[in-house]
Amino acid sequence: MLRPDYPIRTARLVLRPFAESDLDDVHDLRSRPEVSRYLYGEPLSRDEAREFLGGRMEAVALEKEGDSLALAVVVPRLGRVLGQVSLNWRSAEHAQGEVGFVFHPDAQGHGYATEAAAQMLRLGFEGLGLHRVYGRCDDRNTKSAAVMERLGMRREAHLVENGVFKGEWGSELVYAVLAREWKERQA
Ligand SMILES: CC(C)(COP(=O)(O)OP(=O)(O)OC[C@H]1O[C@@H](n2cnc3c(N)ncnc32)[C@H](O)[C@@H]1OP(=O)(O)O)[C@@H](O)C(=O)NCCC(=O)NCCS
Repeated sequence: MLRPDYPIRTARLVLRPFAESDLDDVHDLRSRPEVSRYLYGEPLSRDEAREFLGGRMEAVALEKEGDSLALAVVVPRLGRVLGQVSLNWRSAEHAQGEVGFVFHPDAQGHGYATEAAAQMLRLGFEGLGLHRVYGRCDDRNTKSAAVMERLGMRREAHLVENGVFKGEWGSELVYAVLAREWKERQA
């Protein structure tokens, strides 16, 4: 069970639950073809963004396996929501979680995704007591793979054509970090 105290502040960012007033920012982020290129799903219309936001607003705690924590990332310097990070509780029995991150092009290239995702690892290991957190990305998504490497995650697998992605065979990279590896890096 994990219900973090909000907001979560990092050196340069604020992580907090999504709110209805985030619709413009969420639509701006999730309607961009370049942002959704390697994500499941297509760019969102405004109505789709509203529905998406409604689901994310409820994802504020991890109470049972299958729950997701989805947080808005505010860059105070720029005064709006420019990213989202997530932690999904994939298995209670095996203490496994999955991290995810999506950032607006205006906020890329500053280390914000790495800074925000590091908090999700902290919540997963310290808050929920996970044993392993993994992340997956399309094997062409070099920027996502680079975030996971900066987080200290190991490349565990290159799954070749393991699924159909946007109408063609897609290949995925799997990265992961164990609790003991994460603790060693903090020391
Ligand atoms: C994946 C994604 C979040 C990566 O964003 P990003 O801005 O490249 O990642 P970071 O925030 O870690 O920033 C790293 C970059 O900032 C630079 N940087 C500048 N200041 C930095 C700092 N203080 N700390 C770390 N990096 C810094 C790094 O050198 C790096 O630049 P480079 O790509 O030219 O080498 C982004 O590309 C994205 O949202 N893509 C679309 C959605 C998506 O595919 N999500 C992943 C799904 S699996």
